[in-house]
Amino acid sequence: MSTILVTGGTGYIGSHTCVELIEAGHEVVVIDNLYNSNIHSLDRIKEITGVKPKFYEVDILDRKGLDQVFAENKIDAVIHFAGYKAVGESCEKPLLYYTNNIAGSINLYEAMKDANVKTLVFSSSATVYGAPKSVPIREDFETHTTNPYGTTKLMNEQILADVCAADPEWSVLLLRYFNPIGAHPCGLLGEVPNGIPNNLVPYIARVANGTLEFLRVWGDDYDTVDGTGVRDYIHVVDLAKGHIKAVEYALGHKGADYVNLGTGNGYSVLQVLHAFEKACGKELPYKIMERRPGDIATCYADTKKAKEMLGWEAEYGIDEMCEHSWNFTVKNPNGIE
Ligand code: NAD
Ligand code: UD1
Repeated sequence: MSTILVTGGTGYIGSHTCVELIEAGHEVVVIDNLYNSNIHSLDRIKEITGVKPKFYEVDILDRKGLDQVFAENKIDAVIHFAGYKAVGESCEKPLLYYTNNIAGSINLYEAMKDANVKTLVFSSSATVYGAPKSVPIREDFETHTTNPYGTTKLMNEQILADVCAADPEWSVLLLRYFNPIGAHPCGLLGEVPNGIPNNLVPYIARVANGTLEFLRVWGDDYDTVDGTGVRDYIHVVDLAKGHIKAVEYALGHKGADYVNLGTGNGYSVLQVLHAFEKACGKELPYKIMERRPGDIATCYADTKKAKEMLGWEAEYGIDEMCEHSWNFTVKNPNGIE
């Protein structure tokens, strides 16, 4: 059993990861500034696991606050989710993104170093592959970003690789997530987007519950099965389980490494829409629109490294991902409160 500090632990992926950490027997300490999440996530975690994680309302930019957390807890490893994640907003407000995701992260790594906690799992993204030259995407493919959000992920990867190169005591796993969707099967935890969602499944969920009129399908002239964009959607509970394997691996190894967390399967926009229609039991209206600038045709993971290195692979399929998203949407019309 280890004690894991989870930054951003009241957020979407963080809260699911807290559940899996507790269920795997680990002790969890959460920090979050509640910028994009609700403190009641902690009660939901308790409802599922019987344990309410110790919580600090701390901003990762607050060095004194971080030092206090490390002083009061014997932390073995950190899983770092805290950050901003909206691609469009990052283009409008790059300095906000660089401050939070880069300056905030460096602040955390400094606090870790001073507390002699040198094991870390970092939330990176498949966005670091830019437009890949082929699929499935392997971890050794070239990296390239097209927006400030993606650049903050790539810069964190570089910073952490440099930290590991300079000090052999560090152990860092950089997890490149594909497209996380779905919700906890019990319907207590899930994604609560701020405002009108940009991402596909949260948008479809709002069409299904009548909040939005129809899905805008961004282009049907890609070279894919039906012309619409193909992505590797991964159930958030599978993703969370991947973090348990990752942190356990990191605790037993040294140095920096990169791992894709995806299913290895690609689904088109229309295939996801039809899976969601099955889940909610009704037809959902859509209109084909122009391509969305910056989108690529196809993106899915090569999952071999995750299987071999971590002994992890995703289990849920697209139907369950959509069923669980819909279940959460129905049970939580006002989000987590
Ligand atoms: P989320 O917004 O639900 O969770 C992030 C949490 O971090 C929130 O609870 C927020 O309040 C907190 N936070 C933000 N800035 C903070 C700060 N300065 N100090 C303390 N807390 C702060 O997002 P998520 O979907 O759970 O994503 C978690 C991580 O995974 C992020 O780093 C994100 O970039 C990365 N990621 C997400 C996706 C995705 O599609 N959801 C894909 C790839 C990578
Ligand atoms: C987006 C982000 C990426 C991030 C990922 C994680 C961009 C350019 N990229 O990826 O950095 O890591 O989310 O979730 O924003 N679609 C529609 N209609 C919609 C919404 C989406 O047709 O209303 C289509 C898109 O064109 C795409 C697919 O659905 O083909 C998935 O889109 P989305 O959920 O936004 O994810 P990504 O673009 O893959």
